[in-house]
Amino acid sequence: MKSKILVLPGDGVGPEVVAEACLVLQRTAELFEFELEFSEAMIGGVAIDAVGDSLPPETMKCCEAADAVLLGAVGGPKWSDPTAPIRPEQGLLELRRHFDLFANLRPVRVFPAMKGSAPLRPELLDGVDLLFVRELTSGIYFGDSEEENSEGVAFDTMAYSTSEVERIAHVAFKAASHRSGRLASVDKANVLASMRLWRRTVDRVAEHYPEVELEHVLVDACAMYLMRRPADFDVVLAGNCFGDILSDEAATLAGSLGLLPSASLGTGSFGVYEPIHGSAPDIAGQGIANPTGTILSAALLLRHSLGLETAATAIENAVAATLDDGLRTADISNGQNSCSTRDFTTRVLQHVQMVEGKTA
Ligand code: IPM
Ligand code: MG
Repeated sequence: MKSKILVLPGDGVGPEVVAEACLVLQRTAELFEFELEFSEAMIGGVAIDAVGDSLPPETMKCCEAADAVLLGAVGGPKWSDPTAPIRPEQGLLELRRHFDLFANLRPVRVFPAMKGSAPLRPELLDGVDLLFVRELTSGIYFGDSEEENSEGVAFDTMAYSTSEVERIAHVAFKAASHRSGRLASVDKANVLASMRLWRRTVDRVAEHYPEVELEHVLVDACAMYLMRRPADFDVVLAGNCFGDILSDEAATLAGSLGLLPSASLGTGSFGVYEPIHGSAPDIAGQGIANPTGTILSAALLLRHSLGLETAATAIENAVAATLDDGLRTADISNGQNSCSTRDFTTRVLQHVQMVEGKTA
């Protein structure tokens, strides 16, 4: 049976990086003998330009029919006017909300080949292998809000219900119990009521996982610890907004925002997979974007939505081998020789084949 992949390239570098990930998926499917059927739809700024809606009903229908969605990025200066009635980001948030994709997994691996290139001292990066579990469909992103009124006031509300915290906490505890057994839950319980509920709820869920060692970390301290002693963390559980911020920060550990993938999941196997970086309009259209975050997102898609663990690992190993070979897109080349988006992918494709041993 063919698995249906819906591709939503979006804006900026989105189309460029998604095209590369599709090449990798296609080649992997041939080698590992499974079938994928690709289709494409619009989201974000390009959809606003075409039909005046950042998530057109037609795109929703395509998502409903798909087994998984591979997304590039949304947004850009063209649509960033703060007074605009529709913004590209709304489409992405609506997609997450509609499918109740409350669990956002953001693995942060430090590839050995990247250790010298990260701004942090290499010895701090020894053993760094993190998994951010970010709540994705509630919190301040989805609370009551109002644009600026005549008194010059605007607001966004941060609210969490017990059940919303419970379900994301279970995801994080399960992940921790399959990994090192350590979980750091991030909050701001010293100031915010919603975060005191968060902490109490996480404590209650912890009773189901005696094998997991839980610590609560205030978000401001967490931001510092991630830079000072990142190897002490394993699974990091955070709400929507704190998870967004901390995962960008953690990209510094990996060496570039361009390297990190994400999976947004609900209760079934359907998921949306996207790099954590944005649309990078400054480099769009030049063929120099780093496709790694999207290629690794494709690997997550195979693992979480299609249950193809071996193929997913083959892609991840091929990316590591490509970095070991010294290939560097501009974001990670430290001003040295850099390769193009396509050069990088071509090498990944070669390594996928070598892993499988079908062709050299
Ligand atoms: C992310 C992005 C999005 C978010 C934006 C584009 C709405 O920053 O996926 O991390 O804030 O969730
Ligand atoms: Mg973000």
